[in-house]
Amino acid sequence: METVVSGIRSTGNLHIGNYFGAIKNFIRMQEEHNCFFFIADMHALTTHPKSEDFKQSVKNVVVEYLAVGLDPEKSTIYIQSDVPQISELYLLMNMYAYVGELERCTSFKDKIRKHPDNINAGLLTYPVLMASDIIIHKATKVPVGKDQEQHLEMARNFVNRFNHLYNVDYFPEPYAFNFGENLVKVPGLDGSGKMGKSEGEGNAIFLSEDPASIRKKIMRAVSDSGPTEANQPKTEAIQNLFTLMSLVSKPETISFFENEYNGCSIRYGDMKKQLAEDMIAFTAPLKDEIEKLHSNEKYLNEVIAYGGEKARESASKTLKEVREIIGFMH
Ligand code: TYM
Repeated sequence: METVVSGIRSTGNLHIGNYFGAIKNFIRMQEEHNCFFFIADMHALTTHPKSEDFKQSVKNVVVEYLAVGLDPEKSTIYIQSDVPQISELYLLMNMYAYVGELERCTSFKDKIRKHPDNINAGLLTYPVLMASDIIIHKATKVPVGKDQEQHLEMARNFVNRFNHLYNVDYFPEPYAFNFGENLVKVPGLDGSGKMGKSEGEGNAIFLSEDPASIRKKIMRAVSDSGPTEANQPKTEAIQNLFTLMSLVSKPETISFFENEYNGCSIRYGDMKKQLAEDMIAFTAPLKDEIEKLHSNEKYLNEVIAYGGEKARESASKTLKEVREIIGFMH
């Protein structure tokens, strides 16, 4: 049994990318490992959310974690800011992270390109906080999507530097994990890139989304003018539609449209209609569960209090040992 940590930023509702990139594995891993799954509310502060929206987003992620099948008896489910030991470890780990490597991080470069008006220090040290989330429980396995791979590499650099500096073999190296398969990148509906909540309206499908809105988004997804010769390579936009289909549709549905594409008789309108129906069938039971849980405030508070306590217990043990290694008096 290994220790597993993963989290999701509370910047909105969970989407299909979060589900297939990370959460699907959370559900599977909680059966076999010692799992810590949290809501990264401190990471969400980099975008300066309003307090009211912020509270609601945290609650949404708690609800959606439970709705998809995370079990508070099997895994430790908590809110990052309920575990102050993470913040202290983050402060300490900042001493072992170099500004140069943080500036070279792809997600930081992306963020400053997209939001030149808000290049705060929290964005720069984002990977240090993420590493602290993981190593506070001395985790080795981190179920995440492809976009987090570089952050894991940085986490390994920080722990190796720490171990080397103090001549200890204390922190294990954490690795991104997907049951031996490649890490997943779920595409969005805009014809390029990945599905994400910050990639523009219409690009992501949410677990709590209503059917009419899913249909509308998928029918508007970017496509192309259609193949003109047999077995023509697919454009990125069309490949993306097939990739989304591979997540929620039956194998015979996928091969039907593959054949239509290869024979140049495909009608993208039909393919999108089918994809929309399969997406709705996939999300409908989750949406129902999400709605039910939202009204159960008492249960949600109990889950969070229970998880926070278990997480603090594990975190304070690590922090105490780290303080000893560093050489603090107490
Ligand atoms: P976040 O909140 O952006 O995304 C949460 C998880 O969902 C995955 N994901 C995707 N996977 C595949 N295709 C997509 N289109 C897609 N979009 C999102 C992400 O890879 C991620 O696994 N930094 C993290 C949160 C975090 C964390 C941690 C994760 C903070 N501390 C410690 C693991 C361990 C983030 O912003 O993920």
